Amino acid sequence: MGHSAVVWDHRAAIEITKDWNGVDQVVLRNPHGASARVSLHGGQVTSWRNEQGEELLFTSTKAIFKPPKAMRGGIQICFPQFGNCGLLEQHGFARNKIWAIDDNPPPLHPNDSDGKSFIDLMLKPSEEDLKFWPHSFEFRLRVSLTADGDLTFISRVRNINGKPFSFSFAYHSYLSVSDISEVRIEGLETLDYLDNLCQRERFTEQGDAITFESEVDRIYLGSPKVIAVLDHEKKRTYVIKKEGLPDVVVWNPWEKKSKSMVDFGDEEYKQMLCVDGAAVERSITLKPGEEWMGRLELSVVPSSFCSDHFDIRRRDF
Ligand code: BG6
Repeated sequence: MGHSAVVWDHRAAIEITKDWNGVDQVVLRNPHGASARVSLHGGQVTSWRNEQGEELLFTSTKAIFKPPKAMRGGIQICFPQFGNCGLLEQHGFARNKIWAIDDNPPPLHPNDSDGKSFIDLMLKPSEEDLKFWPHSFEFRLRVSLTADGDLTFISRVRNINGKPFSFSFAYHSYLSVSDISEVRIEGLETLDYLDNLCQRERFTEQGDAITFESEVDRIYLGSPKVIAVLDHEKKRTYVIKKEGLPDVVVWNPWEKKSKSMVDFGDEEYKQMLCVDGAAVERSITLKPGEEWMGRLELSVVPSSFCSDHFDIRRRDF
């Protein structure tokens, strides 16, 4: 993995190493042994471990760790589009680019720094990007690990163009689950969704919590700020809090699609679920000089704690 330089924050450490392709990656640690790894390839989080060292994000055993494509797993930044239309590549170019470490980001609230181990990254369009998407922007991404082991993201996109532009966005998050048939999502029931399996036709969710028994590829619209993904077998719950991101994409490829993906194992759909904080249905428009911010916070709590003490519908971010 090459040499490494250790820079100590007052309570936590940031370590910069090279990945298998010689691209810098940043390991964030908290004082209790939790960690997260962020690659400058795509600004992608490729690992998030709790204090016990358990991996909380899914990475395919068939993942291809070779630029320019993003590897299958972790958390990918989808920008300036989510999905596949026009000249841009599927889910936009941001996840396929090499980001830079941002040494001097514009200030954030002290709460976004205090007690956290974090890294600031930046993406600007290349000449090549401007051919396909002719809009100048600065994308600043902060990835943090809190003292409690939560993983948080702050994305700031600024228009430095002479004209307005629009984009869509998602934190494409591969959660690791014990068995997809034991998983349910709470917080999306009764919402409208666009079904990617039916040319984005609009439907309304009927049931209680969302469970899985076949391929799902949906964009839930106008979702609450907090949703929960309950894993019965593991007795743990992912709590997803978001701001500036009205939609939630839910994806599991199931059996047939899994077999068609070269970088995904035939049976791996059982161990993963993508639940993405996103802004897809209505694109975000920025006038010259304007900035958009989208936040995501992921935490993991024991499921018993969740059902006894934690009503997600009443919680605010
Ligand atoms: C999901 C989309 O979020 O990502 C799916 O809703 C898509 O339609 C999936 O197949 C994986 O996309 P990709 O480009 O990473 O293979």
